[in-house]
Amino acid sequence: MEMQERVVIVANRTPAAKSAGGLASGLLDALKRQPSLWFGWSGELREEDSNTVQLFSRNRLTVAAIPLTPDAHNRYYNGFANGVLWPAFHHRLDLMCFSEDDYLGYLEVNQHMAAQLRPLLRERDLIWVHDYHLLPFAGMCRQLGITQRMGFFLHIPFPVPCVAQAIPRIDELLDAMCDYDLLGFQTEDDRSAFVALCRERRPEIRLPTTGVYPIGVDPHELQREAEAAPLVELWPEDDHHIQGILSVDRLDYTKGLPERFKAYALLLEEHPELHGHVQLVQIAPPSRTDVPAYAELRRELTALAGQILGRHGDLEWQPLRYVERQHDRAMLMPLYRQARVGLVTPLKDGMNLVAKEYVAAQDPDDPGVLVLSRFAGAASQLDGALLVNPHDPGEVAEAMRQALSMSREERRARYRRMWEVLCASDINGWRTRYLKDLRAVQGSSEPLATPLSA
Ligand code: G6P
Repeated sequence: MEMQERVVIVANRTPAAKSAGGLASGLLDALKRQPSLWFGWSGELREEDSNTVQLFSRNRLTVAAIPLTPDAHNRYYNGFANGVLWPAFHHRLDLMCFSEDDYLGYLEVNQHMAAQLRPLLRERDLIWVHDYHLLPFAGMCRQLGITQRMGFFLHIPFPVPCVAQAIPRIDELLDAMCDYDLLGFQTEDDRSAFVALCRERRPEIRLPTTGVYPIGVDPHELQREAEAAPLVELWPEDDHHIQGILSVDRLDYTKGLPERFKAYALLLEEHPELHGHVQLVQIAPPSRTDVPAYAELRRELTALAGQILGRHGDLEWQPLRYVERQHDRAMLMPLYRQARVGLVTPLKDGMNLVAKEYVAAQDPDDPGVLVLSRFAGAASQLDGALLVNPHDPGEVAEAMRQALSMSREERRARYRRMWEVLCASDINGWRTRYLKDLRAVQGSSEPLATPLSA
């Protein structure tokens, strides 16, 4: 039994925490079926006792979660991960806020997590580390004598070299990333940006194997959820035949929310014939509220929402509904199905699973239209969408107009192309392909031959 392979997931969030993000929905089911361990932060902040590992099991998956002290969490998560890496990796250097102390906190938490994981490991474990919170994790593990094969997957974009060079300590971070045996990226653009940056700044370094693994969804499962009776009828038939536009995002400056509202305002300005016949529903649960840029965004967005309602709404028709409350996926899927347009316009995004969920939710016979930012990783796969530049309000408004008036035949053709993509690169394929490559990769001391699949 001890000799059986076990997959060990390491991520900032665990299924024990409030939410483990898109990662959990895709991995949990598979992990419950094979021996596996999921290790990360429990979501708790505790002044003492931060060495306690809480263990619990769900079928064959064991979750091991540790609390963090408020100070460690603040420096690691708010300070360096979300105050430096998140904005810079999304090309928002203007929002980057570096402090030496936060960087040290980030390294300390990575080291602490490595030390807490070590006694839980078994010889045949395959360790798969996720996302920008844990760039230096492999190096910390190697220093502690952990020799198991270790791969990393970056869920967010990797910045182009001229932007990445502005990140303080980027050379140390690159060196640390190269301690992994396999580095996975969402798109070929991300992978080649990383390789180009390493060649430029660290020409002497030995690169690990790199590969492209666009994360997917389980389209059949989502389709089933979308077919369930909706708990809320957003646009009832008798409601003056309103066509719905739906957007669902974490309230984050990378999602292009103010730009989207301005594009929608322009649509209403230029097309008075749509008044009374269209409504944008924006669901945007606040996140990372301790980081100042997020509070500022929330203020801006509520002001814009008020302007749209005040200027265009009347006593019978609300052009916009703005909802901050978080909804679970089972509740959202039937809502996606009701929307004639799925509006997904991030300024930059690693993949964007909302775009894929929207497509999966559609009625194949009468599907809606996806309007998608060119700067979401999903745009490299979903060519049936209307692709837009989210910085250009005229272009986004025109795509919305086109989507609202698109013939059923064209909607079906576009949907079919995207459905095939969802099925061909689903979440199970993502997981199995990554783990297969991680098993096959040469030891970390081997030089890079050719990158894996592009
Ligand atoms: C992004 C990151 C994920 C993270 C999610 C939620 O998608 O790539 O790693 O889980 O945001 O963010 P939060 O800060 O709430 O964990």
